[in-house]
Amino acid sequence: EKGGHASFMLKEIAEQPRAVADTLLGRIDAEGSLRLDEVRIPPHELREVDKVVIVACGTAFHSGMIAKYAIEHWTRIPCETELASEFRYRDPILDHRTLVIAISQSGETMDTLMALRHAREQGAKVLAICNTNGSTIPRESDAVLYTHAGPEVAVASTKAFLTQLVACYLVALYLGQLRGTKWGDEIRTVIRQLSEISGAVGRVLETMEPVRALARSLAGHGTVLFLGRHVGYPVALEGALKLKELAYMHAEGFAAGELKHGPIALIEEGLPVVVVVPPPRGRSVLHDKIVSNIQEIRARGARTVVIAEEGDEAVVPYADHLIRIPITPTLLQPLVSTVPLQVFACELATARGNDVDQPRNLAKSVTVE
Ligand code: M6R
Repeated sequence: EKGGHASFMLKEIAEQPRAVADTLLGRIDAEGSLRLDEVRIPPHELREVDKVVIVACGTAFHSGMIAKYAIEHWTRIPCETELASEFRYRDPILDHRTLVIAISQSGETMDTLMALRHAREQGAKVLAICNTNGSTIPRESDAVLYTHAGPEVAVASTKAFLTQLVACYLVALYLGQLRGTKWGDEIRTVIRQLSEISGAVGRVLETMEPVRALARSLAGHGTVLFLGRHVGYPVALEGALKLKELAYMHAEGFAAGELKHGPIALIEEGLPVVVVVPPPRGRSVLHDKIVSNIQEIRARGARTVVIAEEGDEAVVPYADHLIRIPITPTLLQPLVSTVPLQVFACELATARGNDVDQPRNLAKSVTVE
């Protein structure tokens, strides 16, 4: 049932190109516009939405953090992403014009369920992004957009994460289409880029051998840090989470801009630091800043593992290890930059003798608060 793979996690990592394509399937019409008829919230109500709040836990929360960038960019509706476990205990301000998006692979996570119940009690509309048909979270929501990742067995979320991202992009574009902030050619362009992404994910998977070798060489280390900016920041958090839960190592993700505000004090000789680099083309502000960060940490002894686009030559002099990813629009880059981090954590955990499908102390779905 593992389809020839050593673990469910490896199988699920390998399934990602198909999962991403399946989540797009049937949701784009012949003209290249989005058809999300399954979202049963009437268009006139969606047009009135003046705030989006995303609630989720763990990896799903990281997809929600990335969604915030896409939603605000494409719709200009203010959006915040909050841990479901924090949300309802702070008396959040919600009303009938608030759209709450609850993201959950299992559809059974108690914190997310309680957050959505609280949101509905306050009159907000709730849209679930979920991978499990008929589970509690979609049943209790006003509408649901299913991710079509197929069953995810390994405790560590991989293909569910990538499909959650696709679903979030679809919701963002759909809201943009309805409200007229993004439509026509622009939607078509992003949709085309999204449909090409599954091929890019496949290409990343074909080039993972050096990442595996690197992971094995780091199995004796105690700490790995991850840095990113913009949508690369949640990717850094996701890379760190994967490493914690699978390899039981101390791993932390930081927004690269925060380095000088504290984390740079952690840098010491030989410390592995993984850096997710934004695309360079014509968007050099963040790219240049990240390259400076890589120089700064390397000057202090860090062993730099740099994830950067093909053709990005500026990072080469400062990368002890260079992981190439395909050229991708900035907002969509997490779909390709996360994959090496999944492979990295899985291989490192295996090298340490851990069970990657059933890490200690964890359950696939957390049905208690
Ligand atoms: O089923 P859900 O998506 O609601 O689960 C949320 C988290 O428990 C889950 O993503 C967890 O963080 C994973 N083990 C991460 O790999």
